[in-house]
Amino acid sequence: MTVTIVGSQLGDEGKGGVVDVYGDPADVVARYQGGDNAGHTVVHDGEEYKLSLVPSGAVRGKVGILGNGCVVNLRTLFDELNTLREKGLDPDVRIAERAHAILPFHRVLDGIEEDVKSESDQEVGTTGRGIGPTYEDKAGRRGVRIGDLLDPDVLRERLEYVVPQKRALVEEVYDIDVDDLDDPDAFDVDALYEEFREFGERLEEENMTVNAGAFLSDAIADGQNVMFEGAQGTLIDIDHGNYPYVTSSNPTAGGAATGTGLGPGVVGDGEIIGIVKAYLTRVGSGPLPTELGGVVGDTPGYDEETEGRNEDLATYIRDEGGEYGTVTGRPRRVGWLDLPMLRHATRANGFTGLAVNHIDVLAGLDEVQVGYTYELDGEEVRTIPSTTEEWGRCEANLRSFEGWPEVDWSEVADEGYDAIPENARTYLEFISDELDVPIYAVGVGPGREETVVVENPYE
Ligand code: GDP
Ligand code: IMO
Ligand code: MG
Repeated sequence: MTVTIVGSQLGDEGKGGVVDVYGDPADVVARYQGGDNAGHTVVHDGEEYKLSLVPSGAVRGKVGILGNGCVVNLRTLFDELNTLREKGLDPDVRIAERAHAILPFHRVLDGIEEDVKSESDQEVGTTGRGIGPTYEDKAGRRGVRIGDLLDPDVLRERLEYVVPQKRALVEEVYDIDVDDLDDPDAFDVDALYEEFREFGERLEEENMTVNAGAFLSDAIADGQNVMFEGAQGTLIDIDHGNYPYVTSSNPTAGGAATGTGLGPGVVGDGEIIGIVKAYLTRVGSGPLPTELGGVVGDTPGYDEETEGRNEDLATYIRDEGGEYGTVTGRPRRVGWLDLPMLRHATRANGFTGLAVNHIDVLAGLDEVQVGYTYELDGEEVRTIPSTTEEWGRCEANLRSFEGWPEVDWSEVADEGYDAIPENARTYLEFISDELDVPIYAVGVGPGREETVVVENPYE
């Protein structure tokens, strides 16, 4: 059977940890979208693994697949494989021949476009990994696929078509001299051919490419358990998120079908687990009606003068949850849980279960609030409006819950659901009732053992 893990909010809900917790009975873990914009954490036995491309099942020695819906930066992938090997793992990762390769010029173009947009405060705050430009080329039918790297003639033909266009874009539209860039080779057909042909040879030698759909459907026919590991989250989905402050793929559950080559019935026949952070965090720009405080440069309309509004609470949650960018150390935006957002995510994904993480981070607060509905132009709305402008005008109607105490969370995880402090259970049950989806797991800390498992989806 299959289990699909999907971010219900804005990314970083703790998807990697849930893949690890539920990963024991899985035989194969497949990513179906995104690329090295993801950062998934698994904490086990005192070791923290940060994974951006290698599926999180690698920590348990599961076969990892990067499906056709992924965009793959091979420089990052091989570096990550080396790092994991140094930590004593032996990852077995196969990449769909239909997946697209992120080429060095995609990263450069991501940076240039963000710079240009920032002149009119329209930047998305991307991760700068070239994700958007790679999916643009995929949709524009000028991308380079992993399978193309295996055939020297095809690779050269593809590069000779696309690279001059990108060079012209930089020089003639953006008015930047390619030779002034840090990496002018990113726009050089011969240099790209050499590097990516070498990657192709390596992929072939290490037997790393695969027809993902066929591989996964054979595995399922053999009775194996497959897990689909979503990256990012529903509100940054290109279709169901707050466009244009989104990533360029479909993290929602439908992406698990198109991004692997299996039918929607196969995905829908299994379990679809929504990963929920007990509060909200957001990296980058866009509305956030339940936001506490703000981050200058990311929170729309927020400047030094607006500071002061719930700033202490925001700082408390940010510090307790370690909500700072892993690479830049930049503070993440923080807010209360948002039910209109979760109602939207529940519909768009068809969740069959919820894993609610970070209950421990809120411990010790006198009061915990939830955005229950929104006020939009004088009306109460229960779900997210379709346009980002309308969403930006929404004000959250908050509901208040009594806080719960700091306790020994490892002990709670040992003892099970009933050991969770009563007020936290009230909070969890409210979420579950509102969404009409059962709680499958509760995260009470980052480690594998710090999760209260209520249901095992494979059983
Ligand atoms: P992902 O991108 O959804 O996989 O999430 P990230 O790994 O980017 O961010 C989640 C962070 O919270 C990581 O540092 C996790 O180790 C940590 N984490 C996950 N679940 C919990 C939890 O229940 N409590 C606490 N305190 N930390 C958690
Ligand atoms: P995981 O899988 C949180 C955000 C970026 C930006 C927007 C577009 O770890 O949850 P992109 O580089 O994808 O074009 O950026 O999406 N973003 C994420 N935010 N977690 C992620 O992944 C993210 N991946 C992209 O911050 O706002
Ligand atoms: Mg992350």
